[in-house]
Amino acid sequence: LITAGPTYEAIDPVRFIGNHSSGKMGFALAEEAAKKGANVTLISGPTALKIQNPNIEFHGVTSAREMFDEVFKHYYAADIAIMSAAVADYTPKIVAPEKIKKNEEEFSIQLVKNPDILKTMGEKKTHQFLVGFALETQNEEENAKGKLNRKNLDMIVLNSLRDSGAGFRGDTNKIKIITQTEQKEFSLKTKEEVAKDILDFINDKLPQNL
Ligand code: C5P
Repeated sequence: LITAGPTYEAIDPVRFIGNHSSGKMGFALAEEAAKKGANVTLISGPTALKIQNPNIEFHGVTSAREMFDEVFKHYYAADIAIMSAAVADYTPKIVAPEKIKKNEEEFSIQLVKNPDILKTMGEKKTHQFLVGFALETQNEEENAKGKLNRKNLDMIVLNSLRDSGAGFRGDTNKIKIITQTEQKEFSLKTKEEVAKDILDFINDKLPQNL
């Protein structure tokens, strides 16, 4: 089970709060996992990308709430869950039914917290190998380790916005994999190569009978 892309949180019928995630990392993971013979379910927020491998089960969603609901339709049947989506942390409390007019000089939108999909997965984990992503701009390792523990993950993939060539939109990424007992740093690679590294690492950690 893989998530990818951004989420869009509606403000009114024509506007939303979103982020720069392209979905490339999650789509590369899905293609690579399918190539390795896995049964892949990919749940993605809005992206311009198209799935190549016909064996990938694809579900498109828009908001974090929709992603949450779709993830939990598939989570219990999954052996490995890799959550690479850039989920919006907050969503507008009220979605205006009509397009908001620009009448006021100052204008505020009240936001409420979205459910943390990955944290909920960690709380409900039974047999799944659970992998999260962390995109950090400061205290990278410390923050990533905090997430590993708080969200009850088996592994976290850290990418820092400080590394040139890593992060949103681009075709390359530079990652560090962190588990409870290990840390492994990789060089700058294409997202396809990074996907291979991540899946090879996971494969080494899995029980033989999977
Ligand atoms: O806490 P933070 O957002 O930095 O954690 C990033 C990880 O958590 C990513 O794997 C992301 O897909 C996941 N996440 C989530 N639901 C949220 C926020 C983040 O699944 N609401």
